[in-house]
Amino acid sequence: MCGIIGYQGKNSVVPILLDGLKSLEYRGYDSAGIAVCENNKVKIIKAVGKVANLEKKIDKNISSQIGIAHTRWATHGGVCEENAHPHHQGVISLVHNGIIENYVELKNILLKKKYTFKGQTDSEVLCAFIDMLYKENKDMLKTISLMQKEVKGSYALLILNEEEPDKVYATRCNSPLIVSYTDDGIYFASDVPAIIKYTKKYYLLDNNDIVIAHNSIEFYNKNLDKITKKEEVFDKTVEEAQKGEYKHFMLKEINDEPKVIRELLNYYVKDNKFNDNMPYFKKYNKIFIVGCGSAYYTGEIAKNIFEKYVGIPVYCYLASEYRYQKHFYDKNTLVIFISQSGETADTLEALRKTKENGVDALAIVNVYASSIAREADKVLYIKAGVEIAVATTKAFIAQVCLLTFIALKMAGKEELLKYFANLDKEIEKLINLDYKPVAKHFYKSHSAFFIGRGIDYGLCEEGSLKLKEISYINSSAFPAGELKHGTISLIEENTPVVVITSNPDLKPKTISNAKEVKARGAYLLYITNDKEKDKFYNDVIEIRHIHEIVDSIMMVVPLQMLAYHVALLKKLDIDKPRNLAKSVTVE
Ligand code: AGP
Ligand code: GLU
Repeated sequence: MCGIIGYQGKNSVVPILLDGLKSLEYRGYDSAGIAVCENNKVKIIKAVGKVANLEKKIDKNISSQIGIAHTRWATHGGVCEENAHPHHQGVISLVHNGIIENYVELKNILLKKKYTFKGQTDSEVLCAFIDMLYKENKDMLKTISLMQKEVKGSYALLILNEEEPDKVYATRCNSPLIVSYTDDGIYFASDVPAIIKYTKKYYLLDNNDIVIAHNSIEFYNKNLDKITKKEEVFDKTVEEAQKGEYKHFMLKEINDEPKVIRELLNYYVKDNKFNDNMPYFKKYNKIFIVGCGSAYYTGEIAKNIFEKYVGIPVYCYLASEYRYQKHFYDKNTLVIFISQSGETADTLEALRKTKENGVDALAIVNVYASSIAREADKVLYIKAGVEIAVATTKAFIAQVCLLTFIALKMAGKEELLKYFANLDKEIEKLINLDYKPVAKHFYKSHSAFFIGRGIDYGLCEEGSLKLKEISYINSSAFPAGELKHGTISLIEENTPVVVITSNPDLKPKTISNAKEVKARGAYLLYITNDKEKDKFYNDVIEIRHIHEIVDSIMMVVPLQMLAYHVALLKKLDIDKPRNLAKSVTVE
């Protein structure tokens, strides 16, 4: 959550900070701010709302070459200028990503020391706490190391100290932070897209690392020993992290899907056989799949494939619940963690719990070397490229494909890989259908429903989340047979209901349930891979039937495009839906 950018170097800092904030805005966008050092004084400018509001307030003549900036996703305290970052206390200014869990205790200590607070954030308390430690020790490295011992929670921090106005200090614990350099200066960011314009080289910070940027980069561990770090190179182009000709990142990313499928096949498959990049998880007789939101739904879809083809039980868990549940796993259980960002705090904590119990953990991740990728026993990358829109699209499709690959390898069913050969082209055709007429039936509604059975129910969950996330329509997914047990009371004249059938065996009963809602006035959109003579629906989107292992993957596309077009008709901020952020780094 929240975007952080910092710079120390030869160039004027304001354009660098504003540019970085714009490219990180998908990480949080309720308010934004910058702090720069000018004539040994820190100057802070903040604004509520998007970075554009902040930009209007900034005097372009600021000549500073050092500064830190933040775009916020509020956790503690409302959305207002006082709570926006950077915060300032004594000689310290900072930007913070994360949550300080013991901030109330720290605040009580600080109140006794006569610190006062302008806002309600945990971050302002942390700022004062660092100032207090600095005043006691007069040494920033020691201060940061002491702070690490006392503070509980998660943080990525960039810190300025007015007594050392030419340095940026940084540290992290469970929130991502990278540092990079060019001949012109040193850059900090919470994510690579903020700096690829300048360089593709960067260092990943580990928990408790401390960095000083002062014309060169110095790294220290928590014991304050000087350390060296491995340089990473970002393997994508600047263009891949930009919208290009598309109106929204979401649309661009849906249009990337055919390419993502090709890249996955190139990486894991050769001549219709898996290559060495695809491991064989032979010894496992039980699988757990853990994730949040859409990532969790990929598990619900894949469960059907694993259970049918591999013949082993699969249990899906929401990561935020997983930590608190009792698990019956053993040495032959594989726990698969799904995460696009690789930084989702709920998923990361679930992974840590699994590892504590000595159970094997496989991560399926998009972002290279992210925390989940680094902490799992094994990682498989979905190779989807940078995903910026808050609503995940191409990563979802890639996760389902990769889970299907794992299942086919375990089942010894490589011959089914041939059905992936034309998947890219079929997806392209589906993207290019006209969704506007159908979207018109949804955009004025207050609620919508998605119904299906078995694997189709997993698709319904994703379709429903996509719609509510970006169009703010209160939408729910239901196993088709369950509606009549209560929820059908919500169906009114013209309530849109999406009916999904990909499995011919489950179709007749699902269609009966669809007719039940139609009889009560619902508008029915039918998504199917089977021509239907009985025209019980209002509109239909037909998917070409290839094979069940790919049919469901194709069905995701109309669900994504429908959500996109409904949000477009409602003129909403599709890439940055209200209250959300791309990567949820708090529990
Ligand atoms: C999907 O559109 C959502 N933005 C959200 O549910 C997301 O999938 C979830 O937060 C998990 O994110 P991750 O894949 O980065 O772990
Ligand atoms: N907890 C802090 C706040 O509410 C940081 C939030 C963030 O990561 O954006 O301001």
